[in-house]
Amino acid sequence: MTDPKKLFLKTYGCQMNVYDSERMAEAMAADGYVQTDVAEDADLVVLNTCHIREKASEKLYSDLGRLRPLKAAKPGLKVAVAGCVAQAEGAEIQRRMPLVDLVVGSQAYHRLPAMVRGNRAAVDTDFPVEDRFDLLPARSGGRGPVAFLTVQEGCDKFCAFCVVPYTRGAEVSRPAARILDEARALVAKGVRDITLLGQNVNAYHGAGPGGDWTLARLLRELAAVEGLARLRYTTSHPNDMADDLIAAHGDLPKLMPYLHLPVQSGSDRVLKAMNRKHTSAQYLALIDRIRAARPDILLSSDFIVGFPGETDQDFADTMALIRAVGYGAAYSFKYSARPGTPAAERPEVDSAVADARLQELQALITQQQRAAQDAIVGRTVGVLYEKAGRMPGQMVGKSDHLQAVHVTDPAGKVGELVHVRVLASSSNSLSGERIPG
Ligand code: SAH
Ligand code: SF4
Ligand code: F3S
Repeated sequence: MTDPKKLFLKTYGCQMNVYDSERMAEAMAADGYVQTDVAEDADLVVLNTCHIREKASEKLYSDLGRLRPLKAAKPGLKVAVAGCVAQAEGAEIQRRMPLVDLVVGSQAYHRLPAMVRGNRAAVDTDFPVEDRFDLLPARSGGRGPVAFLTVQEGCDKFCAFCVVPYTRGAEVSRPAARILDEARALVAKGVRDITLLGQNVNAYHGAGPGGDWTLARLLRELAAVEGLARLRYTTSHPNDMADDLIAAHGDLPKLMPYLHLPVQSGSDRVLKAMNRKHTSAQYLALIDRIRAARPDILLSSDFIVGFPGETDQDFADTMALIRAVGYGAAYSFKYSARPGTPAAERPEVDSAVADARLQELQALITQQQRAAQDAIVGRTVGVLYEKAGRMPGQMVGKSDHLQAVHVTDPAGKVGELVHVRVLASSSNSLSGERIPG
């Protein structure tokens, strides 16, 4: 027996890339590759990239630079670039970095094994018509009780700053039956908490018995899967928050009280320039309806500061919106001009001004996140154990509200869903004790 070949896989970017990386690892496992954390041991390096901001996509090139000595010492090593930079830049990556053997776009990675075997062209940035999920090996599981499941891909919204419609193509929903099968397969491998993924997941409209299903319908069916304890979904667009989905937050106990609903800005002028197609008042009214359905829901968002044309007043409007909502978490980014997007043609905000706004916004979010955590102290929450903690006898998991919780529980096991009385809140986690029952 020869040693199995080794795969070193690095993932950049969003949760969809995390999911895609798992699927690529499974596809390569079917060809005899086992994963390694040590790049030096690898026969195949796959970098699954992100194009969303300039910094994200430049990371690829610095990592490729670091692989140069490795490739020189081991000529048999294959280097593949996958994901959204691969999709956007294609063969240009090889021109800039000749050490790259294969370039596989974000929609063609089911062909990676054949490319590695040398049976296909070394650059593939097609948007194939076939459903790649049908052509990939079944889910192997084994990564613990929490899993992602992509249900929808691509985006038709064309926000003025965003590359996703170009790197991931048009919006496509997977058929409901395939998603249910995949969920059952994951549960059979010990998964208890599934997050449905899509760039516009709440626009889901996959084929199902009786016609197209909405996301709410899909969630209802998934909630009936025995052994599955928790459901979440991300990322949603405010304009696709349908009535049946809001209602599901009120009456589906397995649907966890956490919702990522990016607004990007609180200024109507900027929202319009971003092509977000709603106002801040409409967003706030939507939040009210969601909270009416599920009063304890924790909300999170994405924000872009320094979008072209953003004035001090626009930024003040964003801060006012954040204060009005009270988020449990949020991701915030300094605007980054992306090639091919409409906003890239517009004059940029002064970089130092944008930096200062980002700092101010992040300070407010940190304060709100801490307040949301502190509000849980003294309460009992559900926690799903994901791994052992660093301290002896400690387990770490997530609350229903997706907050990290450390629990002293020497008998605790990964995958157990327990009740925890929260005793303390620190900068980005909670700690508590397990309550019997
Ligand atoms: N589909 C999701 C977002 C995907 S990108 C949605 O509609 O919300 C994730 C986040 O990256 C976006 O919400 C946005 O806040 C940020 N982002 C996207 N393009 C960006 C850019 N050019 N500069 C800075 N941040 C950007
Ligand atoms: Fe990008 Fe907008 Fe589509 Fe989200 S909705 S992926 S931000 S274009
Ligand atoms: Fe990045 Fe592509 Fe996701 S650009 S954010 S990896 S869809």
